[in-house]
Amino acid sequence: MTLRFVNGALLITLIVILLSGVYGIVWTLDGWMYEVHRIGSWALIALIPWKVGISWASLKRGFAFNITRGLVPIVSLLLSGLVIFVILLGLGWAWRIGPVVLWLYETVISWHWILALASIPFFLLHVWQRWPKIKQRDLLSRSGFLKLSALGAVGVVGWWLSQMWAVLRQDEDMPRSVSGSRLNGYFSGNQFPVTTGYGDGRQAVDLDSWQLSIGGAVAQPFALTYPDILSLTSSSQVATIDCTIGWYSVQRWGGLRMVDLLQLAGSQDDIQQVRIQAVSGYTKTYPMVEAKDILLATHVGGEVLNHSHGFPLRAVVPSRRGWFWVKWVEIVTAIVQ
Ligand code: HEM
Repeated sequence: MTLRFVNGALLITLIVILLSGVYGIVWTLDGWMYEVHRIGSWALIALIPWKVGISWASLKRGFAFNITRGLVPIVSLLLSGLVIFVILLGLGWAWRIGPVVLWLYETVISWHWILALASIPFFLLHVWQRWPKIKQRDLLSRSGFLKLSALGAVGVVGWWLSQMWAVLRQDEDMPRSVSGSRLNGYFSGNQFPVTTGYGDGRQAVDLDSWQLSIGGAVAQPFALTYPDILSLTSSSQVATIDCTIGWYSVQRWGGLRMVDLLQLAGSQDDIQQVRIQAVSGYTKTYPMVEAKDILLATHVGGEVLNHSHGFPLRAVVPSRRGWFWVKWVEIVTAIVQ
């Protein structure tokens, strides 16, 4: 395999892996995206022997005290180590080999994607400084296309075998979801893990002063007290919260549907986005196509939400990973562009 083919194929697999990875950090929809990630990562693993050969030939040319023959090779070596480590973290998590929490209270799977994202600037420097320009024929000639197809096939076989092993290795009490997260809390009320952003949620919400304000593109902006909300809440839905640090929980949530709240406020028909803000200032914005399925929850599994899970009000966002499920909601804003 030529150097340009190997680098070209690496570029394609890394783009596929990173895009599917980033997609998976944000959305819970389309589980097949995680499989694309896994297949891509096995195609990348298959390229490692060739990449090692290329790197070794380049390193044998020696170092010099300058950018191209000094700094860049060192960065490339560090990048190689980082990528191998990212791969081992991904496999270790999938096969439940090694610890759950790795460092700084972050799990193996969260370090997997944190380091993967951190590797991007180094990767871009490496490509810019080291890679000969890839030509179309390297990948799309008949032999290039055949090699790419073979690589894809190896990726699928690797994925299939790895998933078989991951299923065999999984804890039956904590089955894996398609995102690789492990079940922790099944219709268990407030009894499920708590993940909170650094410094968030330190102070309990004072119900005497707390209100839910709704504004923006609505005819009658207004504010609701907690008793008001309890008198309005009538909906419940089963939804899975899937946290990017590797746990998920299936719960029945009770509360007020976003669409009902917007209707109460006389929202305009052409709302495109909804912004939800917490008492801490933590804010997330959702396109209406997702916001229509949001529930502002006061209860979980028939229990009043406790503080750690976002009392008095938490956003239940079925289409998004857990960090979009804003806790301690205070402000809802309807947005038209
Ligand atoms: C945005 C960055 C990334 C995110 C969010 C991400 C996320 C994930 C997730 C959720 C899994 C599933 C774990 C499981 O099945 O239990 C996974 C597996 C994996 N990832 Fe990533 N990843 C990212 C980047 C990367 C990169 C850059 C590589 C390779 C260099 C990589 C290689 C792998 C491997 C080898 C696996 C295990 C595949 C298997 O289960 O067979 N990931 N990743």
